[in-house]
Amino acid sequence: MAQMTVVDRDGKEHSIEAKPGLKLMEILRELDYGVAAICGGLCSCATCHIFVDDSWVQRLPKQQSDESDLLRELSDFRPTSSRLSCQVDFTEALNGLKVTVAPDS
Ligand code: FES
Repeated sequence: MAQMTVVDRDGKEHSIEAKPGLKLMEILRELDYGVAAICGGLCSCATCHIFVDDSWVQRLPKQQSDESDLLRELSDFRPTSSRLSCQVDFTEALNGLKVTVAPDS
């Protein structure tokens, strides 16, 4: 198991255990304060939108065009920190990752 910090929509920080090998979305949708992930990871709903903490942004895999296209349509899009959590694999290398659940768009 690895560790993650999740900031909910009320700004409260939660330290959670997370299993490497899952998509970030799969971890976050299990939380009461996590993401809805309505499309189940097909990169079509954007309800898995998160903001990645500045210190972690560079350590995540690069976005594919379908992810960035969808993100740019969101009213809460932040160019440097927005990601779709269904498009990010949670690996051991991301132990300690900090993300914030984006507002419902
Ligand atoms: S779960 Fe729908 S875009 Fe990520």
